[in-house]
Amino acid sequence: MQINRHAACEAILKWLLRPSRSLSIDGSAMLQSAVRQVFIALMLTTSAVALSPSEQRGQTFALNNCARCHSVDKVTESPLKIAPPFRTLHKRYPIESLAEAFAEGIQTGHPSMPAFQLDPDHIHDLLSYLKTLE
Ligand code: HEC
Repeated sequence: MQINRHAACEAILKWLLRPSRSLSIDGSAMLQSAVRQVFIALMLTTSAVALSPSEQRGQTFALNNCARCHSVDKVTESPLKIAPPFRTLHKRYPIESLAEAFAEGIQTGHPSMPAFQLDPDHIHDLLSYLKTLE
């Protein structure tokens, strides 16, 4: 009886331990894939949060409105050769001084460019983004 009970206990213990062991293997596999996912998410968000919200809006604005002629990043050439890459603008004049030109309508300087008149929010965002290219 004693022995039997002991054997039963042992069997139950073994039975209990086995699934818990295989559970812990599953668990660590799950943990690993969770860690991997967190890393991927982190990598994605770090590139997204590298720019402030305002700079990001400026980048989107530039991509949508200016990028078909101007280079709006740090490396590429302008699609339209005579349009200066945005990263070079600060060499011509302080970026802040563009605010006025943007507000009044940028068309005056270059007739081949469509007329843009930007509202203060867009100007702020765009200039913030231009500064990230300096
Ligand atoms: C259809 C093509 C085109 C688009 C779109 C365009 N540009 Fe231009 N941009 C030009 C060209 C061409 C020049 C150079 C003209 C010149 O040197 O006279 C230029 C020059 C500029 C300059 C320099 C001005 C100067 O007097 O030196 C600024 C600043 C500028 N663009 C801003 C912008 C912004 C901001 C946008 C988007 C809102 C934009 N451009 C969209 C063609 C374009």
